[in-house]
Amino acid sequence: MSGRRTAAADVRKALKAEAARVEERLDSCLRADACPPGLLEAMRYSLFAGGKRIRPVLCLLSSRIPGRPAADLAEAVLTFACALECIHTYSLIHDDLPAMDDDDFRRGKPSCHKRFNEATAVLAGDALLTDAFAVAAACAGPALPAERVLRAVAMLAGAAGSSGMVGGQFLDILYTGGPEPGPEELAAMQAMKTGAMLRLPCAAGALLAGASPDTVEALSRYGAALGAAFQIADDILDVTGDAALLGKPVGSDDAARKCTYPSLFGLEKSGEIAQRHAEEAVAALDGLEGESAALLRGLAAYVVNRIS
Ligand code: IPE
Ligand code: IPE
Ligand code: MG
Ligand code: MG
Ligand code: MG
Repeated sequence: MSGRRTAAADVRKALKAEAARVEERLDSCLRADACPPGLLEAMRYSLFAGGKRIRPVLCLLSSRIPGRPAADLAEAVLTFACALECIHTYSLIHDDLPAMDDDDFRRGKPSCHKRFNEATAVLAGDALLTDAFAVAAACAGPALPAERVLRAVAMLAGAAGSSGMVGGQFLDILYTGGPEPGPEELAAMQAMKTGAMLRLPCAAGALLAGASPDTVEALSRYGAALGAAFQIADDILDVTGDAALLGKPVGSDDAARKCTYPSLFGLEKSGEIAQRHAEEAVAALDGLEGESAALLRGLAAYVVNRIS
């Protein structure tokens, strides 16, 4: 892997430290005054159940690629990053529903629909998705021009919606138990359901910080490759992982007869493909210097070697 790369232990440490900042800001973002208490409880239950916060962290790191942003810009980007985590959490709540993957555990706790009920889980997801756009829009201000925020929000809607995560989830369900997709269809489906929401934080983080179009493009390629590696690693962990560490069931894909990398290629080849994508991610950062670029390179290795 080329360029300076942060060592694994330091990547984990940095991820934790950045995630703690996200956690704190999320807590203040999600205080919808008129929200019925039962709905807010379900939203916060899933949101604060201990996710890795990798998407917001990618956004923060990417925003530092053009150079350390001024404090007020950094604060605004942190708010935008929290919107990403709200959308991601909604996608997990809906992904676990009986009509989708029907999984009973998430982030080490009963899934939202198990802890509450299906209607509450559907609505908690809807609320997190919708409120996320209010959070994202709110980061416009003196430090962050509204025009840049508007572009980032449009990108966010694209990544989360019918041509991104939701579209990919639709294809995932379509392929489940149905006619098996080929390698290209599987890759395209995963690029939508997972890749889009890992690519977006990288591109939007750089864009919000005023990076050049070339840098935004490089981070976008990094995020897409990282997303591919991330979902293949997730598929592998569903076979080889430890449910207690993952905080979600293992063997769920096989039980549901999902089409995954291990089901199509076997474990060993899947690991090699994930590794290749991680290397592609690193290559996309060629020419980018500094601590944050080194951390992003380290994160590419972390993504394929992770155990949770
Ligand atoms: C799980 O995402 C869903 C996938 C896209 C594979 P994460 O592994 O980032 O889950 P959390 O946020 O840490 O719980
Ligand atoms: C889900 O992929 C991707 C999402 C958009 C939520 P998975 O169904 O494999 O994610 P997990 O394994 O349940 O976290
Ligand atoms: Mg799923
Ligand atoms: Mg699932
Ligand atoms: Mg999975």
